[in-house]
This record gives sequence, C-alpha cells and structure tokens, in this order.
Amino acid sequence: DWNSDSVIAEQVERIRAQVGDARVISALSGGVDSAVSTALVHKAIGDQLIAVFVDHGLLRKGEREQVEQDYVASTGVRLVTVDAADTFLGHLQGVTDPEEKRKIIGREFIRAFEKVQRELVAEAAAEGAPIKFLVQGTLYPDVVESGGGTGTANIKSHHNVGGLPEDLDFELIEPLRTLFKDEVRAIGRELGIPDAIVSRQPFPGPGLGIRIIGEVTRDRLEILREADAIAREELSNAGLDGEIWQCPVVLLADVRSVGVQGDGRTYGHPIVLRPVSSEDAMTADWTRLPYDVLAKISNRITNEVREINRVTLDVTSKPPATIEWE
Ligand code: XMP
Repeated sequence: DWNSDSVIAEQVERIRAQVGDARVISALSGGVDSAVSTALVHKAIGDQLIAVFVDHGLLRKGEREQVEQDYVASTGVRLVTVDAADTFLGHLQGVTDPEEKRKIIGREFIRAFEKVQRELVAEAAAEGAPIKFLVQGTLYPDVVESGGGTGTANIKSHHNVGGLPEDLDFELIEPLRTLFKDEVRAIGRELGIPDAIVSRQPFPGPGLGIRIIGEVTRDRLEILREADAIAREELSNAGLDGEIWQCPVVLLADVRSVGVQGDGRTYGHPIVLRPVSSEDAMTADWTRLPYDVLAKISNRITNEVREINRVTLDVTSKPPATIEWE
C-alpha cells in the first residue's frame, strides 16, 4: 500500500545509486511534474543537480517569481534562469497560425535549453565533474500513452514545451515513472513544495502564446496577463479552484468592440473566460460558475485593464470545442 514517505526514500536511494558522483541537469517548467521530479533528485544528490528554467515570455503573472523565489526557497535547488523572452517574441512576430506558434515555441525552447546546457556541460567538465544525466518528469500515464497508445486523434500538436532534445548524450532519470498525478502531488507536498505549485491546474507549455488569438506581442501579453491574474484571483477567493479543471482566459486581439468606459466611448478588445470541468482533458464541460463570481471578474477586468471593455463566457463543451481556443 502506497505512501509518499516510502516512495521518496526508495527513489532517493535509487537516484543516488544511479548518479554516483556525476552531475545532473533538469528543466523546470513551472508545472507540477518537473517541480516534483527536480525536488526529488535534489533531495537525493543536492547540488550535483542544476535546474534550468527557460522564461519564454509567455508565462502568467507571478509564475517566474514563483519558481525563482518560492520554489527555490522551499527546496534549496540551484537554479539557472534563462531570459529568452526577446528571442521567442522575435520569432513569433507576425505569426497567427496556432500550430505554427506551437512549432516555433517548441523549437525555441529546445534551442534555449541546448545553449545553456552546453555552457553548463563545459563548466562542469572543466571542474572535473561531467554532467551525465537529465531529469524528466514522466508520469505513468505518459509511459502508457507513448507505449503504443490507443490511436486517439491528436488534434493539436501536444508536444509539451518541456519536450527536450532527443539526441542528447544524457542518461535519463525519471523518478515519477510509476506514479499518477495525485501521487506526484502528495510527494510534492511531502517535499515541502509550495501548494501554489503542487496544486497548480494544467497550463499549456506554449503558455499565453496560444491564448492570444492573433499575433503575440509584448503589449498584448501584458493585457492578457493582467486579465488572467484577476480571473484566477477571484476564482480562488470564491473557493472554486477545486471545482474547475482550468480556466483559460483568452484575448481576442484582432477583434475590437465598442464600449463606454469612464467619460467616453472606447474601442477595446473582448476577452473570453473559458472555465471547464474535466477528468482528463479529453472531454470537458463548461463550468456553471456562480453569476456573482462572473460579475466580479467582469467588473474588475473592465475597470482595471484599460484595453478590455467586454468580458464574454464560453459555454461550449469539448467536443465540439477544445479547451484552449488555439
Ligand atoms: P485542448 O485545447 O486540446 O487541451 O482541449 C487539452 C489540454 O491540453 C492542454 N494543452 C496543451 N498542453 N502543450 C501543452 O503542454 C500544448 O500545446 C497544449 N495545447 C493544449 C490544455 O491546456 C488542456 O489542459
């Protein structure tokens, strides 16, 4: 019978035996799986591990700080952050097609990671302690899915942005390979990782890049980031985090709508709230949120985010609509 203490103890021992004196690299995405696998490896081998966090500029408000401050403070992990927002946004310029965005973001993620990895490898080799291993947050359902799968139509290219180059000369450490998500969360809590990370709802690897319908620009990201932060805050305040699977907030950046805000007519942008309930994201229903919560979110967003003058609610299930708009 399952308990997180014994899984941790067992994994720590296995990781130590596997790694010896070598060094290990790990990519943090801000998500649960990479946070827990990295913390587990750190518990086993301490500063032989270097964690890398690529900030692609498409993160939500506070996410980078959550990793750099809260996660590091609670785990003691040695972290290198790569500031790649300019590069990503440069390559996304003029791009509106969703799959094109995913391809670019995935490709640039690998490039950014490879670059820092080369630097770290050179540094470590110079110190006589080569990097030989790479941590991956693979869960049991991922193992099953990639091992033949059931041939479910892959409608969107769901390569996680955490997807790493495949031709690396590293051996993999996959301490979560036998575990389900709820077990991973239990282990994360046991390891002292902040609840905001351990209980995080799903967030796509391409981030806000696929929640801006139209070209992704710095200004548009800023608008969406503010609106998203307000929606998340109010949903949490209303105690609804456990009830929704996730709630994408989507900026219809190429659509403008007329409003009256303050003393005059405005010509701003609508946003869409997309709260969904789901078991596994394969199917989903739109969540019947209380009207007063919706009203609060709408009032706050239109008052606090100048460029948004209309808040709409997506009442479509999946299928036929997907959870994300792109
Ligand atoms: P859809 O929109 O296909 O989303 O109903 C199902 C789940 O997958 C997430 N999602 C992604 N995750 N990279 C990811 O890592 C992606 O490109 C991507 N697209 C969608 C989505 O947030 C939902 O949880």
